[in-house]
Amino acid sequence: MLNIVIFGAPGSGKGTQSDMIIKKYGLFHISTGDVLRAEMKNGTELGKIAEGYISKGQLVPDELIIDMLAKVLDSNEETKNGVIFDGFPRTIPQAEALKAMLKERGAEVSAVIGLEVEEEELIDRLIKRGQVSGRSDDNLETIKSRLDVYHNQTTPLKDYYINEKKYKAIHGMGTIESIFAAIEKEIDNL
Ligand code: AP5
Repeated sequence: MLNIVIFGAPGSGKGTQSDMIIKKYGLFHISTGDVLRAEMKNGTELGKIAEGYISKGQLVPDELIIDMLAKVLDSNEETKNGVIFDGFPRTIPQAEALKAMLKERGAEVSAVIGLEVEEEELIDRLIKRGQVSGRSDDNLETIKSRLDVYHNQTTPLKDYYINEKKYKAIHGMGTIESIFAAIEKEIDNL
């Protein structure tokens, strides 16, 4: 069973490549960003709390995210056949929680696909998406704070997964298809 983490900065293509991975490998897609945006749209308690963080480009507190992820795993039987985790984990405590949750299910993280993209390109992609999607955090000020948060709080995870021998670096620039071809190679080698 494959449990893959797709890792990278805002705008690195995690969502785009996850869509292609689920089509080919039949994994269950969990995007914590999508789950949070659905909670916001439905006006739930969690959604109201999350909105305050997301609008500033900050991370939602670990305990809320870990609890949310556990509920998604517990309420979807298909997750037992393998998952692509998109946007989770983003901190070391989240990575430790994921390890424990998978261990309880007799599973583990199979690989971490790290999409590596230059900063200028990230900003360019997100500004362009903001113009059409209207995502409230795709404006220059919030994008800059999301990138700061990524560098300060999320990049330590790269070393964490290198130490665990799970990290697979992927050059995340170029066409969507060429990036997917590099990801396929890594997944097929597992
Ligand atoms: P989240 O929704 O996870 O956003 P993100 O990490 O900022 O990532 P994005 O969705 O912006 O980008 P992506 O890497 O998926 O790229 P995409 O494929 O869309 O999180 C949002 C917020 O929720 C966080 O800031 C935080 O507040 C909160 N949150 C979520 N998870 C959390 C957690 N675990 N802990 C705490 N808080 C959490 O592509 C971007 C654009 O580029 C698209 O327009 C796409 O079409 C384009 N594109 C993709 N690939 C290419 C390519 N090869 N060439 C050109 N354009 C491309």
